[in-house]
Amino acid sequence: MGLLQLVKCVALVACAVAAPVEERKAPKSFLKEVGNSTWVIGNAKWNVTQGRQYATKLWYKGKDRVGQAVGHYVSYNGAASDLNWTSAAIVDSGNDWINVKFTAKEGDFHWVIRDDLVGAYQYFVNHALPTLGEFRTLWRLDNISFPNGHTNVKDGVLPPLSEYAAATNVQDETWQKADGTFLTKYDWSAFIREQEYYGVYGDEVGSWYINPGKDYYNGNHLKEELMIHRESKTGDAVQLNMIHGTHYLARSSDSFANGKTWGPWLWYMNDGSKTDAARRWKQEEKSWPYEWFKDTAYQSRGSISGKLVLSDGRPAAGAAVFIGDTNSNLSTADQGKNYYYTAYTDSNGKFSIDDVRTGIYGFYSWSNGGKIGDVTTSFVQNDIVIAKNKATNLKTLTWQVSSPKNRIFQVGTFDRKTDGFALSGPTPFEHGRIAKAPSNLTYTVGTSQASDWYFGQSALGTWSIVFNLRSIPTSTTGAKLTASLAGFSGGSSANILLNDVKVGNITTNSALLVSSQDTYRGATRAGEWRLLEFPVAKAELKIGENRVDVQVTTSTKWRGWLWDSVVLEWV
Ligand SMILES: *[C@@H]1O[C@H](CO)[C@@H](O)[C@H](O)[C@H]1NC(C)=O
Ligand SMILES: *[C@@H]1O[C@H](CO)[C@@H](O)[C@H](O)[C@H]1NC(C)=O
Ligand SMILES: *[C@@H]1O[C@H](CO)[C@@H](O)[C@H](O)[C@H]1NC(C)=O
Ligand SMILES: *[C@@H]1O[C@H](CO)[C@@H](O)[C@H](O)[C@H]1NC(C)=O
Ligand SMILES: *[C@@H]1O[C@H](CO)[C@@H](O)[C@H](O)[C@H]1NC(C)=O
Ligand SMILES: *[C@@H]1O[C@H](CO)[C@@H](O)[C@H](O)[C@H]1NC(C)=O
Ligand SMILES: *[C@@H]1O[C@H](CO)[C@@H](O)[C@H](O)[C@H]1NC(C)=O
Repeated sequence: MGLLQLVKCVALVACAVAAPVEERKAPKSFLKEVGNSTWVIGNAKWNVTQGRQYATKLWYKGKDRVGQAVGHYVSYNGAASDLNWTSAAIVDSGNDWINVKFTAKEGDFHWVIRDDLVGAYQYFVNHALPTLGEFRTLWRLDNISFPNGHTNVKDGVLPPLSEYAAATNVQDETWQKADGTFLTKYDWSAFIREQEYYGVYGDEVGSWYINPGKDYYNGNHLKEELMIHRESKTGDAVQLNMIHGTHYLARSSDSFANGKTWGPWLWYMNDGSKTDAARRWKQEEKSWPYEWFKDTAYQSRGSISGKLVLSDGRPAAGAAVFIGDTNSNLSTADQGKNYYYTAYTDSNGKFSIDDVRTGIYGFYSWSNGGKIGDVTTSFVQNDIVIAKNKATNLKTLTWQVSSPKNRIFQVGTFDRKTDGFALSGPTPFEHGRIAKAPSNLTYTVGTSQASDWYFGQSALGTWSIVFNLRSIPTSTTGAKLTASLAGFSGGSSANILLNDVKVGNITTNSALLVSSQDTYRGATRAGEWRLLEFPVAKAELKIGENRVDVQVTTSTKWRGWLWDSVVLEWV
């Protein structure tokens, strides 16, 4: 053995002793900069080519699944504001994953890519977004690979572009075909907080959004959004992730704190199987909030619970519960700059929500129908503190309600929805259904049912409620007429008359009734809720037969209001 060999041997032994730790495995997922503001990200199963604005190639299962379509982008307030990425970097990684950050002047968009996953967890951290209503991420994909769409309320083939070309545009993204039926992207809308998995799919591939948690969305339980659609100019199959949206609202405009984070959600690809996507939703829902997301604010959460009791002693059964902004002058539908949690009470009025981000919140509740479908008031309590790893118990909360014995009549249940009225269903969205509601109708208290009243009113004519009074209580000073509207799109107006005397109105362009984009976009179950209350003098009411008329004085096609409930009560 020569000296040299001996030295080498000693060095090897020393090496083995000095470095007993196994070398860290490198992730196979990658970010490659290919120059000119272009990067490729992905893993062995898929990859995406990201340019300055658009990700224009999505390789999966041997084909580019973007094709002639626009691809992936992040934008606010319409197409003029697609974010421009100035740099990309791997900001964190593990044995089998990388976190890629794309930077824009408004904030950072992240793709968390795992070696074994087709798709990526995505999130956006705000730094300088302007005050906005609409903020979204989306995929515009190859329409041959993705012919179908799926939400929790609609599934099927996206109407082909050729049908649009042969039809007549009749309003915002809505066309009428020769056979009289309509084509509109809004028919592919849904209640966003009820989604499990949704997206576009075909026989070979499916592309899905799976958003567990949902606390970064604006609005309440009834927040509706456009989810997927056929792009009417290009034919792209579109999959939207409306993380802040206003498609069915009147006004919802928010300014966000530096650091407000949307997500992480999962953009998930598979072979087109809905069963597999449903399984993945369950898995993601179970693992939310994600332990792997090392963000202090995201991981700081507590719980809230309590019990709601009505002032008449009944439990507030099945009520909607909303944890939102504290001391806000905005409706729960319009709140959107922070984080929001929704739930329903059980049959005893009890509620509990886990994993609420720490902070100071407002607690809101309202009737969701059922056993408390007569309750017209809402409950609000402000300054509720949620602390890290603490359980906040609000104990018993008393909700003031008006006495049921003051009720003269009620048409429909009070639940901020059109449920129970004719044509309210079977689907929650259908363009033009409101035109099928009659011009004139009479509802007779005592004999008519909710299904004799219609979900929406628009046509010139009069809807009457006939009711009998056996007596007029001496103790009352008068009555209050409540018109609860589940939605309102300006263009139609009405006077409300009691025994031919005007007592109220539903007026387009009034300060009280800002138009929302619900009714005319085919929302039939709910939109932006409004509460109108009108005093009625005692002298207007008489013993015997009385009549409330909702008399439509101006009508614009497809515009008008969605009915939740009409209530008359002594005060
Ligand atoms: C750089 O990218 C832009 C679009 O992002 C493109 O218009 C331009 O042709 C590219 N330049 C080169 C040299 O590839
Ligand atoms: C992306 O995928 C395609 C198709 O599998 C492959 O040809 C290409 O090399 C991949 N890109 C990178 C950067 O790995
Ligand atoms: C991104 O850059 C384009 C110009 O290429 C510009 O039209 C667009 O407004 C920019 N987006 C934003 C959000 O500023
Ligand atoms: C798919 O998009 C192309 C344009 O890229 C269009 O010509 C075609 O009609 C679209 N197909 C469908 C089914 O809409
Ligand atoms: C709510 O209050 C803010 C100021 O705190 C004001 O700018 C805004 O107009 C108010 N909104 C409504 C709907 O009253
Ligand atoms: C509704 O009633 C008014 C007043 O009676 C009448 O003029 C009108 O023709 C009716 N509309 C329809 C469609 O029947
Ligand atoms: C409509 O009713 C509101 C009260 O809800 C009242 O302030 C307003 O003056 C009424 N407008 C018309 C045109 O009658």
